[in-house]
Amino acid sequence: MSSDSPDVIVVGGGIIGAACARALSIVGIQTLVIDAGDREGAATPASAGMLAPVAEARREDPLLALCVRGRDLYGELVPELEEETSIDVHRWTGGILQVAFTEEEAAEAKNRVAWQRQAGLHSDWLPVEDVKNRFPGIADDLFGGVLAAEDGAVEPTALHQALMKSAEMHGARLVRGQTVSAVLTERGRATGVKTNKGSTNGGAVLIAAGCWSGEIEGLPRPLSVEPVKGQMAALEKLPEEPPSIVYGFHGYVVNVGPETLIGATMEHAGFDSSVTDEGFAQVLQSASRIYPALRDRRVLRKWAGLRPGTPDGNPIIGRDAEVQNLWYATGHGRNGILLAGLSGRIVASLYSGDEIEYDLAPVDPARFWTI
Ligand code: GLY
Repeated sequence: MSSDSPDVIVVGGGIIGAACARALSIVGIQTLVIDAGDREGAATPASAGMLAPVAEARREDPLLALCVRGRDLYGELVPELEEETSIDVHRWTGGILQVAFTEEEAAEAKNRVAWQRQAGLHSDWLPVEDVKNRFPGIADDLFGGVLAAEDGAVEPTALHQALMKSAEMHGARLVRGQTVSAVLTERGRATGVKTNKGSTNGGAVLIAAGCWSGEIEGLPRPLSVEPVKGQMAALEKLPEEPPSIVYGFHGYVVNVGPETLIGATMEHAGFDSSVTDEGFAQVLQSASRIYPALRDRRVLRKWAGLRPGTPDGNPIIGRDAEVQNLWYATGHGRNGILLAGLSGRIVASLYSGDEIEYDLAPVDPARFWTI
């Protein structure tokens, strides 16, 4: 490709687009990222940044292995990014607790520990006294909790900035303020994109536009990606509470940064990213069930983000089955921060024709298109 025409046009400069652009650039692929700019409801800045593959795992979840790899990859990726960019990503590895408030929840939680251990995951049941000792200020009336000791968090905006800065340092170009409306194809091949400012040619097109991916025209079939709204709030930090992340069965409290973050709803409300009294009440109710003192903390901010959701909750990563040079890295749902680094690696490896030693069937773009 000429210097004006990149090897790959990445549609979307959110955390997934940035991670893919970086990974592609590192292996020498000329990459142009086209980003619409700050969009209402963008998922990355709205996220709380948990790396919670074990805390959020469902039994026999086909995505679990990739999620654990996604978390562990940050052990090497974050130091690399911090060294390259001097941006502190604030990786925190203190573990995530899920508490049980009823006998039924406790039974389910103990069952979770059993299958997770059999699956080789680090998961421990903590009796109630242990929970209270390790998490001062936590509710009195719980039955215990499951500690996913290797789960943690990053600061999502910092990680996003570091990935994009690093991508540019490795040669990626970033254009902001252009919205891609369509993929251009010729004789069964993707040849570029149409934006609100004109057309751009490229050797391949990678759709990484989060919940807006399904709006892009010119694809062989509509992408199965819909916005799933998550309402969140930042509260004045809990005093003298050691850093912690605690999930209940209906929400979570993230107490590792300068504020206490509480979240999050799961709402199918289209592209509406407004905050509502009902949404905030639900989030505060779940959070103060875990830490009762949160009910009286000062509310600093409320916001909502739009997760890019798919029918099975798994992302769509890989090449299109019919149109050559058309690629996807989208639909990451609840796992965008967790899987960003790994998604970049997967795309760059597939693009370069490298062998991938793990099962990509759960993220196969063709899985929704068998009829
Ligand atoms: N992974 C947390 C959330 O999406 O709310």
